[in-house]
Amino acid sequence: MIITVDGPAAAGKGELTQRLAAHFGYARLDTGKLYRAVGLKVLGAGGDPEDEAAAVEAARALTGDDLEAPGLRSEDAALSASKVAAIPAVRDVLLEFQRGFAAAPPGGAEGAVFDGRDTGTVVIPDAPAKLFLTASPEVRATRRVKQLQEQGTEAIYGRVLQELKERDARDTSRKVAPLKPAEDALVIDPSHLDADAVYAAALEFISAKAPD
Ligand code: CDP
Repeated sequence: MIITVDGPAAAGKGELTQRLAAHFGYARLDTGKLYRAVGLKVLGAGGDPEDEAAAVEAARALTGDDLEAPGLRSEDAALSASKVAAIPAVRDVLLEFQRGFAAAPPGGAEGAVFDGRDTGTVVIPDAPAKLFLTASPEVRATRRVKQLQEQGTEAIYGRVLQELKERDARDTSRKVAPLKPAEDALVIDPSHLDADAVYAAALEFISAKAPD
């Protein structure tokens, strides 16, 4: 069983996918982490994230340690991620890893929950249960400022909002795997729902798609 949860930054995908994975005993893949790790690796090597050769080399050389690198959650890593993510050859390298994860979820889990931008449209297009979380940039920027502050990073609302909008624009307008809901996805706007209500709506949808 594969569940995909896509959507723009800071819409609440992380919390929802963690709860779903815990509930079903499935493995979880935060696909954004892969792009962040590539983006950070390019920056760390003094490269330009828009340079295809540098970005592809970083994607091919990705290690488990890169996925735990300090600074992965920074806004610099996020911006760099969205630049490497627009390069088709980088996406190809990461696609292979993601499909392997879906085919054989680690730990012998019977399913996987994917968190990303294109996991229901491109990575696992035949996933039985697809969700798309979205909210206004302002609602998402408020959420992201809180998250950054909780991790001890000083965050200025106006700057976070501007960076989210810049990433949204790049993610939705790129030619390969642009950010958009799959046709068969349930779209949830959590602006006026608390996390429990979003979780309940997701569970109801998934149960209807894959009754046990
Ligand atoms: O945590 P947040 O939602 O801010 O971002 P993320 O999920 O860590 O993703 C960082 C960036 O990676 C996004 O802005 C996208 O450009 C890219 N990404 C992607 O292109 N495809 C994915 N499946 C996941 C992330």
